[in-house]
Amino acid sequence: MKTILSRIPLIALIFGAVGLAGWQVNAEPTRATFPDNLDQLVHYATIKRGNVTEHILTTREAVDAVKNGQSIPNGTHFVLVDYREGEVFRYFVMEKGEGWGTEFPEDRRTGDWQFQWFKPDRTINMAENTARCQSCHQSRADQDFLNTFGQLQQFDGTVVD
Ligand code: HEC
Repeated sequence: MKTILSRIPLIALIFGAVGLAGWQVNAEPTRATFPDNLDQLVHYATIKRGNVTEHILTTREAVDAVKNGQSIPNGTHFVLVDYREGEVFRYFVMEKGEGWGTEFPEDRRTGDWQFQWFKPDRTINMAENTARCQSCHQSRADQDFLNTFGQLQQFDGTVVD
């Protein structure tokens, strides 16, 4: 006969799962930070789509690594600056750190990259769930989870657009 005690792990699991789901939908700070050296990042690609203009930036070290066929170093930031009507509308950031991937379940993992959406004032958009970022970028696993890997390889000092 089952006692209430034997059910506690199950109850804890259910409450845990509900808590986790609620957390993921509402808010999700991650390890990805807003870079403190945005002005020093290299703007290597521009993508225009309708009224949206995106500038894609990363570190000089990451540019060199990709050009030399090496893996992108930990600590690297990639920033997508999304401009609308000439004003910053939002910043999308990816940052890589040692072992950061292990903080996510495998089906959600994007190597050691973590993601974040920052508002124009550079605070986190707490309404966004970065699982969505990861799910889409997972399709680029063969290009270090980057969508503009090709532009990075092509970049020779002139912005690729
Ligand atoms: C539906 C797919 C999709 C989703 C969701 C998505 N991205 Fe991307 N991301 C792209 C594509 C495609 C590009 C290349 C630029 C373009 O075509 O607009 C890109 C580019 C980037 C880049 C520049 C580096 C690179 O991969 O080329 C960063 C940084 C980035 N995204 C961060 C984010 C963040 C943060 C989120 C979630 C808030 C996010 N992305 C959600 C598809 C996606």
